[in-house]
Amino acid sequence: MRLRFITGNKNKVREAGERLAELGYEVVQDNMKPPEVQADTLEEVALFSAKWVVERSQEPFFLEDAGFFVDYLKGFPGVYSAYVFDTIGYGGILRLMRCKTERSARFEAVIAYWDGREFHTFKGVVKGTVSRNPRGENGFGYDPIFIPEGEERTFAEMSASEKNAISHRGRAIEKMVRWLKKKET
Ligand code: IMP
Repeated sequence: MRLRFITGNKNKVREAGERLAELGYEVVQDNMKPPEVQADTLEEVALFSAKWVVERSQEPFFLEDAGFFVDYLKGFPGVYSAYVFDTIGYGGILRLMRCKTERSARFEAVIAYWDGREFHTFKGVVKGTVSRNPRGENGFGYDPIFIPEGEERTFAEMSASEKNAISHRGRAIEKMVRWLKKKET
C-alpha cells in the first residue's frame, strides 16, 4: 500500500520510507508546503498543517511535526525546535547546557493522518540525554547532540535503521501502521 507523506524534508522521507518499507508500505513524497502555525503543542501544529492540506486535496496522506525537548530548559526548544535550529543551532543548546549535570531530554513526533474522512494522530517519544559535545555524521537536525536511553552513541553515530528502530519518528510510524493494519482487517 502507498502512503502520501506531505513534507519538504528529505531526511524525514528517507527515515519514514525505510521504516514503512520494513512494515510493508511504500512512501510517496508530496512536496506541498503547508504553513506551520506557532502553537503550544506538536499536535496543534500538525493538525493545523493537515487541515490546510485537506482544504486543497482530500486524498489520504500523513504529515509529521517533531520537536526536541530539554528538561533543564523547561522543554525548550520544543515547538520552537525548527526556529532555534535555524538560529542558534544545536551549538546554542550546548552553550545553554554548559556545565549542567541535569541533561535529560526527549524527541517527540506527532503524525497527523487523514484517511479521506477524518484525522487520526499518532505520537512517538524517545527519551535520552544531551551530549557534552556534538558527535557523529549521520541523521540530521539535533541528532549529533542526542544520546537515546540505553545507548552511549548519539543518534548521529547510529545507522539509519538503528535510529529508526527506537526514534520518536519510528515509534509514531509504528503506531500508525498498527492502526492501519487493524483497519484493513
Ligand atoms: P519539524 O518537524 O520539521 O518542524 O522539525 C523541528 C526541528 O527539529 C527541525 O529543526 C528538525 O531539524 C529537528 N528534528 C526533527 N526531527 C528530528 C530528528 O529526528 N532528529 C534530529 N532533529 C530533528
